[in-house]
Amino acid sequence: MKSDITFLGKIINVNSNTVEAEISKEIPSSAPIINGRVHRIGQIGTLVKIPIGNLLLFGIVSSVSNSPSTNNVNLLAEPDYGHRFIQIQLLGEKLGNNDFVKGVGGYPTINDEVHLVLDEDLKGIYGGRKDGYIEIGRHSSSDTLSIYLDLKHLVLRHSAVLGSTGSGKSNATANIAKKILTDYPGSRIILVDPHGEYSSAFDKNAKIFKINNPENPLFIPFWTMTFDELSFFLVGRQEGQEKPEDKKLREEIVKLKRLSADKLKAGKINPEFITADSPIPFNLKELWYTFNREVNATYKSADQNSQTKENEELDSEGDPDNLKPAKFKPYSPTNSAPYKAKEQTMYAYEKKIHSRLKDSKFDFMFNPGNFATAKSKDDIDEMLRLWIDHEHRLTILDLNGIPFELIDISVGLITRFIFDSMYWGRFEEYTGRNRPLLMIYEEAHAYLPKTESSSHIYGYARKAVEKIFKEGRKFGIGAMVVTQRPSEISETILAQVGTVIALRLTNTSDKNSVQAVAPNNMSSLMELLPSLRVGEAIVVGESIVIPSRVRIDLIEPRPSSTDPELVESWKKQYPLNKNHYKKIITALREQKHIKKEKT
Ligand SMILES: Nc1ncnc2c1ncn2[C@@H]1O[C@H](COP(=O)(O)OP(=O)(O)O)[C@@H](O)[C@H]1O
Ligand SMILES: [Mg+2]
Repeated sequence: MKSDITFLGKIINVNSNTVEAEISKEIPSSAPIINGRVHRIGQIGTLVKIPIGNLLLFGIVSSVSNSPSTNNVNLLAEPDYGHRFIQIQLLGEKLGNNDFVKGVGGYPTINDEVHLVLDEDLKGIYGGRKDGYIEIGRHSSSDTLSIYLDLKHLVLRHSAVLGSTGSGKSNATANIAKKILTDYPGSRIILVDPHGEYSSAFDKNAKIFKINNPENPLFIPFWTMTFDELSFFLVGRQEGQEKPEDKKLREEIVKLKRLSADKLKAGKINPEFITADSPIPFNLKELWYTFNREVNATYKSADQNSQTKENEELDSEGDPDNLKPAKFKPYSPTNSAPYKAKEQTMYAYEKKIHSRLKDSKFDFMFNPGNFATAKSKDDIDEMLRLWIDHEHRLTILDLNGIPFELIDISVGLITRFIFDSMYWGRFEEYTGRNRPLLMIYEEAHAYLPKTESSSHIYGYARKAVEKIFKEGRKFGIGAMVVTQRPSEISETILAQVGTVIALRLTNTSDKNSVQAVAPNNMSSLMELLPSLRVGEAIVVGESIVIPSRVRIDLIEPRPSSTDPELVESWKKQYPLNKNHYKKIITALREQKHIKKEKT
């Protein structure tokens, strides 16, 4: 077989999963041309085959050197310069005409031959188009070889798309989403898109929620928060703290939530089940109004026990829904009626709640339109239907416009809400295990960091997303994280990633963390990451038959890059104008800039 054009060399050393071969000196060039294609011999990442009778073992070249890894081997030729040794990681085997299978049953022995892998071998490995797969691109070494991912593993065993800025992550992500949606009419995807990049790639084929979008406004109702979460974002209470005002806040919230129990649009519930943590709507303005009234009232009596509603010196009731406080007769400066309210516990919290309600940049959360109170038009069953039950089946949650201090809690609430709905709906025929859902997290480093060292990241999003990675599979929910900083991402998340799509990655610590998650000793393959081309990826893991170098299809239209056109804009001349910046300052003061933006 030595005359065979594919012959490379012979095995000189075998140990568990790695075998070592010496490249034959008879091979004249390191780049023979076979069937019109240049084969690079002994290049890291290329595949080789080892025929043993009817069985073909396949492996990948993981390192190359000019001296053997142990001295205890018989070399093919006299010791001389020009020896070439390759380390091969065995990946799988193919028996006769059977399908390629991962993992090897038998091992080669010394002097077995190692051969180049040709296109027809690759076709044998990857097979043709199969049900349950999506095509993501072509093999880097062959234009005609399509690469498929096993959809079930890709989704339910979770995945990560990793790569430096500009390496092609967003394109790869949009490509995968598009293929899934086109090929599988029951599929559904929610894409968390912090920078609003994806609307351009999907346009009319996705439902895009965004703050202040008149058609599909993004609301994340405050009342879906637990008491700890709500009290932190509303009044700055720290977890575990229970001052008198915290106790009062809790009691008042429970009271208001219980009042909603028989008005819930999704169905009445027994008020006894309601706690401060239950996701039950209540009127936040009413809460503010109650505290405001308590603090500002004047009374006929100076005795705190007699300062009750009947003894108020009321002028007008005001209107909670329009944030109009009740008005009282001014208290007397001398020791006579009307008396000032003795009860001032809620003084500071009242002010804080009021400022939250007044600040329009918090409206998506604290003034959530149709979801604001139990009397509002909709309950969160409607929010779920809006988010996951629509003809496009792709929901883009564009987080543009969410104040940065609320990104973490927002992603956390969205994720927990979706997860819980899949958990409680796991046996329904239209959702849960019977109709899985894929969550995609773009720019994941911004809100899923491994430590909460950066300001305004408290771990709400991380905890909720980790839960999907750990147990989502059981309830039909899978996740994909997309990031340029894998070294900064939660390790729990990375450890649970079943498929890694690694694009060009130049930063060393990021490369190391990808190597750490790469399965079955594929870390040497990851050495290639800095040298990949744009749009080229190393794909390893459960949804691909064999670790592969893939050119991901470029999709049109593309996700929009958010960089400004620097050169074009700096080429222009700008006349000076005294009116410049007036509008900007006004918008900055009113915090209303987002509302004026075209959607
Ligand atoms: N598979 C691909 N093939 C060819 N060009 C690509 C591919 N993927 C991305 N590109 C190019 O690189 C640019 C950046 O891609 P993008 O997906 O936005 O990168 P990232 O999200 O990693 O920053 C794209 O605008 C496109 O021009
Ligand atoms: Mg991107």
